[in-house]
Amino acid sequence: MAHIAVLGTGRMGAAITRRLLDTGHRVTVWNRTAEKTEALVAAGARAAPTPAVPDAEVVITMLTDAAAVRDVVAAADLRPGSVLVEMSTIGPAAIRELRVPDGVEVVDAPVLGSVAAAESGQLTVLAGGKMGRARPVLESLGSVRHCGDLGSGAALKLVANTALVTGLAALADTMVVARALGVDAEAALSVLARGALAGAVTRVTAVGAAFPVALAAKDLDLVLGLADPPVVRAAAAVLREAPERDADLGTIVRAAT
Ligand SMILES: NC(=O)c1ccc[n+]([C@@H]2O[C@H](COP(=O)([O-])OP(=O)(O)OC[C@H]3O[C@@H](n4cnc5c(N)ncnc54)[C@H](OP(=O)(O)O)[C@@H]3O)[C@@H](O)[C@H]2O)c1
Repeated sequence: MAHIAVLGTGRMGAAITRRLLDTGHRVTVWNRTAEKTEALVAAGARAAPTPAVPDAEVVITMLTDAAAVRDVVAAADLRPGSVLVEMSTIGPAAIRELRVPDGVEVVDAPVLGSVAAAESGQLTVLAGGKMGRARPVLESLGSVRHCGDLGSGAALKLVANTALVTGLAALADTMVVARALGVDAEAALSVLARGALAGAVTRVTAVGAAFPVALAAKDLDLVLGLADPPVVRAAAAVLREAPERDADLGTIVRAAT
């Protein structure tokens, strides 16, 4: 088993760490707010005082955004022969611009699925670049889809999140229409569950999803930096008006119901 460092133990980094520990890996964790590593240490991880974990063979970053990833990678002191596995959602350009020492392989591996899927090894990992010794590590987190060169996983992740967020925004609007017509919400949802928005209905009722509105808005901003599709713009406006930025994305539908 490889020695793995997980840099960033927020919701997803912590869930991934728990899964790696459950599957027998040796894991060292670092988080900017050190208290968030305590439960993971109790579960068997080692805590590092800085992002530099010199003996790690696979270094995973799971952080909010591209700026955080850049800063943490710069401080990680990666050693030649190791693999940096970038799992945050930051888009392909930021991945390709990451600077690492010679001899360090970089893999983009953003994921589909939230906290519960990470803990139970049921993520879909969208990998780009040469996985090398990171492959078995990623396979313990779920099913791995190799997308192509570096950045290709990050690109497909933005495509997937465009569909996820615009789909939920469309479902929220549909529920507003249902309310205006006096249609019972449960009746509407049960019919919609058999139609074009079925995936969005499933997502809203999913247990163990913790993907905050603020992170979804960050992803749409990444998309809007590349293209200007009107439905994506409209979905971004829906998120800006959402009452709770820290609540799961599904709340935009519940608020409209
Ligand atoms: N939540 C989901 O369901 C989900 C699913 C798929 C993908 N994602 C993506 O995965 C990434 C992480 O999401 P999450 O839900 O785990 O977020 P989160 O719970 O908010 O955790 C964010 C992590 O980034 C760290 N961080 C932020 N800015 C930093 C900085 N400047 N320097 C160092 N560390 C910094 C935080 O440290 P502190 O604890 O010190 O704040 C924390 O460890 C995001 O890109 C998100 O879009 C999330």
